[in-house]
Amino acid sequence: MRLTGAVALVTGASSGIGAAVVRRLVEAGSHVVAAGRDADRLARVAAQTGATALVSDLSRPGAGRELAECALARHARVDVLVNNAGVGWAGPFVGMADALTDELLAVNLRAPIELTRALLPGMCHRGGHVAFVGSIAGRLGVGNESVYSASKAGLDAFAQSLRLELAGRRVGVSTVVPGVVDTEFFTRRGQPYRRRRPRPLAPDRVADALVDAIARDRAEVYVPGWLRLPVAVRGLLPGMYRRMANRFG
Ligand SMILES: NC(=O)c1ccc[n+]([C@@H]2O[C@H](COP(=O)([O-])OP(=O)(O)OC[C@H]3O[C@@H](n4cnc5c(N)ncnc54)[C@H](OP(=O)(O)O)[C@@H]3O)[C@@H](O)[C@H]2O)c1
Repeated sequence: MRLTGAVALVTGASSGIGAAVVRRLVEAGSHVVAAGRDADRLARVAAQTGATALVSDLSRPGAGRELAECALARHARVDVLVNNAGVGWAGPFVGMADALTDELLAVNLRAPIELTRALLPGMCHRGGHVAFVGSIAGRLGVGNESVYSASKAGLDAFAQSLRLELAGRRVGVSTVVPGVVDTEFFTRRGQPYRRRRPRPLAPDRVADALVDAIARDRAEVYVPGWLRLPVAVRGLLPGMYRRMANRFG
């Protein structure tokens, strides 16, 4: 995928990984539409990068489709869609409020599906790329993050199915699978990250991997790369994996 001159829509662009992706895509020569909920933070990212800001709350039904329509109204086309916006929640599942469950599923899964549905016809016509920011939680499952893990596993399955469906067309599909990244994600989810290892990575590392995956049409990228190891162990030796997961969390 040629990024120079491409129109890219990035969700969750107001902070963390999304803001880093906006910077990388602008450096690569793309025209970036940066979408987020917090108007002030989004305006700062837009002012720093020259991206166009679009404020949108993706937890509402239909918000993904509306955001796609707004982006098309501004630029007439979207060549690259980066489905990055996401929200977490940590704690025992029985204590999770229904409204939070709905929010996680809406932002992490429904909105990317809506956005992709709205933008894919144009991409199929002209060529394009859809990228998803998944999570290692979606590949492995994480205790006390069951709904978050389920939302990311759903996103993963959607992305992989779409890639198969679009094989041979001019639309690429990539999933980036990050581990722990140094953003506000943890404080926002209500529980800071307290483990010493693995150490949180800079969001720029994820942004670099994501932009490279788009440019080279890579199906999936783990950041850091060693994360594919526990996923492989789980697939090949599930009993051993469960024992290790129970012991180390
Ligand atoms: N940090 C990690 O360790 C980690 C690991 C694996 C995967 N991820 C994934 O990486 C992605 C980016 O997260 P991050 O780490 O960069 O965290 P972050 O700094 O908290 O960024 C989350 C972004 O999602 C946006 N967002 C949240 N709720 C939204 C809503 N209702 N409508 C529209 N936008 C909304 C936020 O927008 P506002 O600020 O404008 O509200 C923000 O721009 C997420 O999908 C997350 O699941 C993160």
